[in-house]
Amino acid sequence: MGFKTLCLGLFCILFASHIYITIPGNIEEFWKVMALDAVAKTCTFVAMCFENIGIMRYEEFISIILRLDYTQPLSDEYITVTDTAFVDIPVRLYLPKRKSDMARRAVIYIHGGAYCFGSFKQTGFDFLNRWTARKLDAVVVALDYRNAPQHLFPTQFEDSITAVKFFLQDKILTKYGVDPARICISGDSSGATLAAAVTQQVRNDLKIKHKIKIQALLYPHLQIIDSDLPAHRENEHGILLTRDLAIKFVSLYLTKDEGFSQAVKRNQFMPLESRHLFKFVNWSTLLPEKYRKDHVYTEPILGRSSFPLPALMDIRASPLLANDSQLQNLPSTYILTCQYDIVRDDGLMYVTRLQNAGVQVTHDHIEDGIHGALSYMTPPLYLNLGLRIRDMYISWLDKNL
Ligand SMILES: *[C@@H]1O[C@H](CO)[C@@H](O)[C@H](O)[C@H]1NC(C)=O
Ligand SMILES: *[C@@H]1O[C@H](CO)[C@@H](O)[C@H](O)[C@H]1NC(C)=O
Repeated sequence: MGFKTLCLGLFCILFASHIYITIPGNIEEFWKVMALDAVAKTCTFVAMCFENIGIMRYEEFISIILRLDYTQPLSDEYITVTDTAFVDIPVRLYLPKRKSDMARRAVIYIHGGAYCFGSFKQTGFDFLNRWTARKLDAVVVALDYRNAPQHLFPTQFEDSITAVKFFLQDKILTKYGVDPARICISGDSSGATLAAAVTQQVRNDLKIKHKIKIQALLYPHLQIIDSDLPAHRENEHGILLTRDLAIKFVSLYLTKDEGFSQAVKRNQFMPLESRHLFKFVNWSTLLPEKYRKDHVYTEPILGRSSFPLPALMDIRASPLLANDSQLQNLPSTYILTCQYDIVRDDGLMYVTRLQNAGVQVTHDHIEDGIHGALSYMTPPLYLNLGLRIRDMYISWLDKNL
């Protein structure tokens, strides 16, 4: 009893000390967002303390917390939900129960979690995928991938493409009653990075017969080569996702080298031979003026540190690095960006790049949006913003798939 009280007391003190942040006034459900942010920052603080004391690593602590939010595959009146595997990649399938004369549409969903955390089992993602299956009368495949830092890049990409290729086979599509011409791939945050990279690969791979019809990228992270974009500057101490945390996640994803994140913070980590890639993420030309504001573009300093990481120049880690001829083949695309989000400009620049390459793009920007809201659609961490994003995404899917 005494110990529990002590813990609760400590938690309250930490919570209170993290609550004094400046939250933009136009944010919906201001108090809830503030409390949510304080909970997240308190967890981060505790996780960092545990790591420094040597109890467990930061990401292990966060994973334990997230696992409390996992759900079983529960079927309901309309949808049969099962956990299975494609090759050896875990997937959760949502199959509508109603008999249908026609083959159905299908959505493949890749969850976010900063490459390090989470699963389709999280309540928010399970809720979204069930909703998608029901509203669109579609087959939904949610896939998992092995997480960093136990598994570094490109494991996450390889797992995703393995599951997607398995699903795209004739015999599997027939088995689940899917129309091969009406398949979408979607993802949020780091899941959207994977969705974008997988779509590029599938579209440009002549051996794959059935292509993806459309892709939906929800607050995507799309490049790791420049860490000094306007969105990074404006959201350095952002809600739920700060610049330090974002850099920590990318470092855990790419390397075991502890010095890497320091170099990324200084934006001095890319090799000399990467110079030709910066035109693909040059925000002074690719970002609409509304978001550039009066920020001054500074060229990243190259060759200052040498990390032998091919991932840094790999389009599977930074889909924005694909050249125009690779982008031309891409399907109709939905991109949703949030104003108060450190990865905002990645999505905005992909909109510009895709449009320049002649790809059809629908872009929704949420002026009071914050990163990760799809994880907060169910009690107790419920935000109306999550439902707004869900509804925009579903309505685009319904019209275009
Ligand atoms: C980025 O664009 C600006 C023009 O707005 C140009 O001066 C600069 O050289 C470009 N840098 C790179 C690396 O493409
Ligand atoms: C684009 O990249 C592909 C793959 O790296 C390459 O084969 C092609 O030549 C490039 N195209 C242009 C126009 O640079």
